[in-house]
Amino acid sequence: MSNIVEDELSRPSIFRDESKLSIDYVPEHLPHRENELKQLASIFRVILEKPGNCQRVIITGNVGTGKTALAKNFGNQITTIASKRGINLQYNHINCRRERASFTILSRVVQIFNPSIPRRGFSTEELLQIMKEILEEEDMHIILTLDELDFLLRREGEELLYSLIRLFDEQLNAVQRISIIGIMRSEALFRGLDSSIISSLQQNIIRLKEYSASQLETILAERVKEAFYLGTITNEEITFIAEIAAKQGDARYALEILWRAGKIAESQSKMRVLPEHIRKAKSDIHPVVRKDALRDLPVQQKVLLLAVSRALNTEKAYATTSEVKRIYRIVCEEYNVRPRRHTQFWEYLNELVKQGIITTKISGEGIKGKTTLISLPDIPASILEQEILNLLGGV
Ligand SMILES: Nc1ncnc2c1ncn2[C@@H]1O[C@H](COP(=O)(O)OP(=O)(O)O)[C@@H](O)[C@H]1O
Ligand SMILES: [Mg+2]
Repeated sequence: MSNIVEDELSRPSIFRDESKLSIDYVPEHLPHRENELKQLASIFRVILEKPGNCQRVIITGNVGTGKTALAKNFGNQITTIASKRGINLQYNHINCRRERASFTILSRVVQIFNPSIPRRGFSTEELLQIMKEILEEEDMHIILTLDELDFLLRREGEELLYSLIRLFDEQLNAVQRISIIGIMRSEALFRGLDSSIISSLQQNIIRLKEYSASQLETILAERVKEAFYLGTITNEEITFIAEIAAKQGDARYALEILWRAGKIAESQSKMRVLPEHIRKAKSDIHPVVRKDALRDLPVQQKVLLLAVSRALNTEKAYATTSEVKRIYRIVCEEYNVRPRRHTQFWEYLNELVKQGIITTKISGEGIKGKTTLISLPDIPASILEQEILNLLGGV
């Protein structure tokens, strides 16, 4: 047995540093986003020059246009500059899809400042006040990025955004301490906001366009230098991937194909990524399995989805809810998660439907009466099961 492990580990890899392809990695240089970085710098200039002012910006664009990377990269740079100038400026990046409610978003922020504050027991109002006090006591300014803001707005409306904008307004001439970068996909949703919010954001909208094939090519080529050993993938293959992903203009998709193609090449003990590996990688990537859609689900929903995939892993097109529930209880035990009761079970199920991961339909009138049938329209159950297992591994 030990030979297998040893052989595997001593086999040369084509990756110099695979982590450079992970979705959380923020490159220091963002090709084709230079203008947008410049725009952010000029908008936020005032908070360095006259601390006490704040700014609000909205970044919009489709999936994979670099919204998150742009904001984080900017956050890193501006906080470094601020600290050199002796200004206490912090950058906080909160994903509103992962933190599911205003309350959790705020308690997350407050916890970053003061980890000893309990996560529960405060109302949203109280958390806002705590945040305000901490900022004032520490003479601190923050840039708070609300990423995937669409999710929060759809779920809860604009209350939190409104409260954050207003937080320092009650006092006349109060020092403003919270700047906001809101990131959203849908500009239509932004247009539907309260007019006072829109007017406070109006001038500062940065719209990211989908990348062209040649732009994706530069992005990929730079990342290849960081992640792969020289000579393991040629320009021709990079162009090939860029062209595949150019239909969506989505850099994340492009990078994911690149990473998977590398993994496939490696699994075949090849020292080069070949077009066939890229084709295979492309066919392996399911829109829903695209890493972060699943990764950001709360543990409870991951567990439920694992139960669904197991229920369907036997060449069945549909599983009944009672079957899924039964398996769900077993999976809960396996992962030491408290199984939820009926109402919440249904809530989780509906959430998975809303996200387009599963579908449900009512069965025809049978002997047992009507029941809800659950299905996976796009993903082979075995692939889904494997992905969820990988994700739950780190619970
Ligand atoms: N201009 C760029 N240069 C280098 N990498 C980029 C660029 N734009 C996006 N990426 C990478 O592509 C992936 C998707 O970008 P991301 O910022 O997550 O997109 P979005 O938030 O718009 O969905 C990330 O891995 C990111 O690092
Ligand atoms: Mg993003």
